Amino acid sequence: MDRVNAPEPRGAGVRLRPEIAALPPYRQGRPAPADGFKLSSNENPFDPLPSVAEAVAASASTINRYPDATALALREALARRYGVTADEVLVGAGSVALLAALIQAAAAPGDEVVYSWRSFEAYPGLVTVSGATSVQVPNRADHGHDLEAMAAAITDRTRVVIVCSPNNPTGVVVTAAEFEAFMAKVPADLLVLLDEAYIEFVRDAPGAVDGSTLLGRYPNLVILRTFSKAYGLAGLRVGYAIGPVPILDAARATITPLSVTAASTAAALASLEPAAEAELLERVGVIAERRDRVRTALIAQGWPIPVAQGNFIWLPAGEATAEVAERLFDAGLVTRAFPPAGIRVSIGEEESVDSLLRILGELVPASQEGHPG
Ligand SMILES: Cc1ncc(COP(=O)(O)O)c(C=O)c1O
Repeated sequence: MDRVNAPEPRGAGVRLRPEIAALPPYRQGRPAPADGFKLSSNENPFDPLPSVAEAVAASASTINRYPDATALALREALARRYGVTADEVLVGAGSVALLAALIQAAAAPGDEVVYSWRSFEAYPGLVTVSGATSVQVPNRADHGHDLEAMAAAITDRTRVVIVCSPNNPTGVVVTAAEFEAFMAKVPADLLVLLDEAYIEFVRDAPGAVDGSTLLGRYPNLVILRTFSKAYGLAGLRVGYAIGPVPILDAARATITPLSVTAASTAAALASLEPAAEAELLERVGVIAERRDRVRTALIAQGWPIPVAQGNFIWLPAGEATAEVAERLFDAGLVTRAFPPAGIRVSIGEEESVDSLLRILGELVPASQEGHPG
């Protein structure tokens, strides 16, 4: 088609914020082919627990009503668990909604938000939407956060620092010692967000930071967790933040009201019931064991896989990233490629493991040529 003379699409002349018009929309991974596996979104491969599905079904009888805007019952349950007050808990439609609300509460045009890169792919867009500027501090050679460089990147303009542990997509954890040394350098009026979306999958990582042990210690620290990963509720969108009340109150003002549904809170509460939670955490253990097995096998093949403490592993495939991802796709394995850096592979069904290891075993020599780690 002759695109040069194609008419402008309707609406093209409407004045939008230029930085938003230039922002690519959130890109979801390709769906898995029939008989394939979706290993591209760090989802939980297990089916929902019957008790959780029943709680969601029961919530259907009130869908003509708005949900409780503050999700009080869930906040109270979380508050009891973490030894804080319900006002120190904020529930959102996924932790991504909380990240957005907290960034918007603190950062505006002219301000800066510091985070490690590569990290969660939503951070750059959320910062742009707030009007602030991203300051991306490169990961260390071992794919972990360089917290010293992050502290050094803080200026008078910095309003938020995001720390992600375990880091998506590399899997590396921040240690408690590193985090506390970092917090000692950060001004007390600068908001620090500790994103712990994958904390429940941390095993065998002595000294890994656990934000829940730091609550009440810093006036500027908010931790973020989610029911999407370990608790398998990605489709219902429910996450939570815990931190000082004035910070959460500001986020209560920026967050989209009434976005957490009654079905989401019912599912989250059902997941926190002792028997349900024990089963869910047992599944987390199964996934963590599978992850460690996959990582060990890939390292034996020659892949330089960094520490992996989330429900995914990072393949630093370099220039071969697109080609390796395509080969995996051809074998029915949908992964998340970040060319030219690498590929994030979620740990999914046990049935996906054999083909994953087989394909990657065939690709080690080619993909590692010129990319020694
Ligand atoms: C590091 C990190 N933080 C936050 C999220 C958001 O999760 P949700 O909005 O489903 O709670 C994700 C999702 O992939 C993530 O990887």
